[in-house]
Amino acid sequence: MDSTGDQFERAIPPLEDDIALLEENLQLISDQSDRVVGYFYASLFLENPQLRSMFPAAMDVQRERLFRALTSAVGHLAEPEKFVPMLQALGRDHRKFDVRPEQYAAVGRALITALRTYSEQFWVPELEDAWRRAYTYLATTMMEGAHLSARVEPAWWDAEIVAHERRAEDIAVITVRPDRPFHYRAGQFTSIETSYQPRSWRTYSMATGPSPDGLVEFHVRVVGGGFVSGPLVWRARVGDILKLGQPMGEMAIDKQSRRDVVCVAGGTGLAPVKAMIDEMTRWNTARRVTLLFGVPTRNELYDLAALQRLAAMHSWLTVLPCVSDDPGWAGERGNLPDVLARRGPWSEHDVVVCGSPAMTRATLGRLRDMGVPDQRITYDAAGDVHPAAAQVIDLRRTRANRAARAARSAPQQR
Ligand SMILES: Cc1cc2nc3c(=O)[nH]c(=O)nc-3n(C[C@H](O)[C@H](O)[C@H](O)COP(=O)(O)OP(=O)(O)OC[C@H]3O[C@@H](n4cnc5c(N)ncnc54)[C@H](O)[C@@H]3O)c2cc1C
Ligand code: HEM
Repeated sequence: MDSTGDQFERAIPPLEDDIALLEENLQLISDQSDRVVGYFYASLFLENPQLRSMFPAAMDVQRERLFRALTSAVGHLAEPEKFVPMLQALGRDHRKFDVRPEQYAAVGRALITALRTYSEQFWVPELEDAWRRAYTYLATTMMEGAHLSARVEPAWWDAEIVAHERRAEDIAVITVRPDRPFHYRAGQFTSIETSYQPRSWRTYSMATGPSPDGLVEFHVRVVGGGFVSGPLVWRARVGDILKLGQPMGEMAIDKQSRRDVVCVAGGTGLAPVKAMIDEMTRWNTARRVTLLFGVPTRNELYDLAALQRLAAMHSWLTVLPCVSDDPGWAGERGNLPDVLARRGPWSEHDVVVCGSPAMTRATLGRLRDMGVPDQRITYDAAGDVHPAAAQVIDLRRTRANRAARAARSAPQQR
């Protein structure tokens, strides 16, 4: 930090040569990644036993995330203009874990120990230096994000459950009142920790736009043996306190656009879409909005009554419930991408898509086939990976970056 204590010195992005060296190193140990992750955590907790209690009791589901983020972040190092805001957001979000600056050094040491151990025959001082520079850059940028956020917002919010409605066997609509103003934009999500599974944070989208009463709605569906979704749906009661992390995410309706909007929401992917429509009720008069809400069986149309009330109050909104696997359903039938195609064309619309990764992928594919330009589509895939993490983790981007760098350097080689 500088002498005012207000600003961090800007971290120096690693050089292209460093990045190439690190990518090569990761490639060489890629078939041993499980063991490297195991060694990383063993080494971290052996050297710093006090850190173990920051992590969830059962680390089998998530344990790869921190480590994979650390290693695959390498793929983004060449794009600081995009990567810096992502890392700052991650650092800001890490405040909920109560991470202290000195702990970054401990994580860095464990990372390098694990990498050195598994890269034994290739490990050279230049490689170790390159890893140190890259890690310092990541850690400094995250700490900067945390520092900036600490001046304006809490590390987390306590939020009391004020309503809990079971709308289907495995779905609940939960309304909470945060203890302090919780500023977010419609379309964003946050992470939630329950007292039933301490230190297990999962991501959920706000389902209402910001409102003067400060109440926030969430839609939760139980997934598998869900550690967090299960207790939220089956155990949580009015009066229970949840912890909310920082609001995050870029999904939004383009307010400058004059185009009509079609929203495609699968299951609880409805939540952010409903928040955006709720927020539109405060300013929209002219743009028509069509909402396709898709579920497998009619019992899962858990929020249809609320949507129909909204549509009754706002003539610009049309709600179309779509059911894919229920022979007795008399309304619109089929998977969302098929219904969307049937009801098109949408090439003059702005489009919002939210649902499972598979549904999101299929819908985006169909939209492209229908000629909807990418820049008119906004989407979030509500998978099981925190998107801030997913962006840092996504190895496909590593390959894309490598290809882009090769293309950039090609003219110089000629
Ligand atoms: C941006 C974003 C927004 C989200 N918004 C919502 C929301 O509004 N409402 C909501 O109910 N959920 C939402 N999710 C999903 C949520 O974050 C959790 O992943 C989900 O509740 C499961 O957590 P869990 O702890 O109960 O399950 P875990 O204990 O983490 O997992 C149990 C098992 O289910 C698998 N699994 C986890 N999640 C999924 C999934 N989504 N699909 C298929 N398999 C999975 C795991 O791999 C594991 O095998 C969102 C996810 C993202 C990334
Ligand atoms: C450059 C350094 C770091 C990076 C890139 C990083 C990245 C990440 C990512 C992407 C996640 C997953 C987030 C999620 O799924 O919600 C995560 C989780 C976590 N991180 Fe970090 N992190 C770093 C440093 C640290 C440090 C120094 C600590 C403190 C010891 C820490 C503690 C945690 C904890 C406790 C979790 C939750 C793990 C879990 O739920 O299994 N991280 N980190």
